[in-house]
Amino acid sequence: MASNALPQAVKIVEVGPRDGLQNEKEFVPTAIKIELIDRLTQAGFANIEAASFVSPKWVPQMADGAQVMDGIARRAGTIYSVLTPNLRGFEGALAARADEIVIFGAASEAFSQKNINCSIAESIERFAPVAEAARANGVRIRGSVSCALGCPYQGEVPVASVVDVVARFAALGCDEIDIADTIGVGTAKRVHEVFEAVTKAFPRERLSGHFHDTYGQALANIYAALEEGIAIFHASVAGLGGCPYAKGATGNVATEDVLYLMNGLGIRTGIDLDQVVAAGDFISTAIGRPNVSRAGKALLAKRQNAAACA
Ligand code: HMG
Ligand code: MG
Repeated sequence: MASNALPQAVKIVEVGPRDGLQNEKEFVPTAIKIELIDRLTQAGFANIEAASFVSPKWVPQMADGAQVMDGIARRAGTIYSVLTPNLRGFEGALAARADEIVIFGAASEAFSQKNINCSIAESIERFAPVAEAARANGVRIRGSVSCALGCPYQGEVPVASVVDVVARFAALGCDEIDIADTIGVGTAKRVHEVFEAVTKAFPRERLSGHFHDTYGQALANIYAALEEGIAIFHASVAGLGGCPYAKGATGNVATEDVLYLMNGLGIRTGIDLDQVVAAGDFISTAIGRPNVSRAGKALLAKRQNAAACA
């Protein structure tokens, strides 16, 4: 374990508009996506994953990335990130004035094939020119390591495989690297083991935890990562999401729940929880999907009770 002292401040990366909405079967109108991002911007996020520039044949929900990026009201200082699987995606990202591109590989060979149709080694080769182009254009690069704590196809993922992909992403010049529990199978002990190992390959302060809540472990895993000194976490408003290539995976941990935890721990986030709760209510209502944030639902109920008693 890194140290007993938890970080005093963390960066929460809001991934709902991309990682969350990409999983919705019905096409979410572009105007709704834009309003969601604008609400999240106003709530104070320093980083929002806003869109994907991937093949619309693979993820039709993200086909309007250019229009979304064109329509949002950007706040100076907020990083708007987009996924780019190849140079074509990077060109779209550049034209859309994305602040950060996300390249995404897996620590599991089987998942890599299902998600991006190539092996881990091939995916890194494919990302090399994308990373080079990003560096040449002064665009930040984030590497996301899917299935770092388990894979829906191959099961157990060795810690050494996670370290290997992190080292490869580091060599490509990533500014930040995500350790992603894509199917939410990890538990706190494994989180400690993985972060202890990967912090030897990449600076701790630029590593992030991306936890899904499939088995109800996400907040415990975040706490374990905090104990490892990790200070960047991904979360999805109203718990939107899942993964099209990981059956049964629920969404990322809900942002409202993470903020409630951080507020309780006295860890600064710079984000207004009430505004995030309202954004979660907005998007859940707009797409007709239950809000799965426990803190979000509790705070909404409290607000409604207060209004009824007034
Ligand atoms: P492919 O079919 O192997 O290759 O796709 P392709 O080059 O033959 O492309 C297929 C078609 O897509 C072609 O069109 C291309 O032109 C087009 P056609 O000639 O058939 O008309 N195409 C594109 N169109 C727009 N933008 C592009 C682009 N690239 C090709 N950038 C490919 C390979 C990598 C493109 C495909 O597999 C792909 O786009 N995959 C993305 C899948 C994806 O987005 N998955 C979800 C993200 S990962 C994730 O969610 C996990 C993460 O959140 C972490 C976690 O949650 O744990 C990061
Ligand atoms: Mg995710």
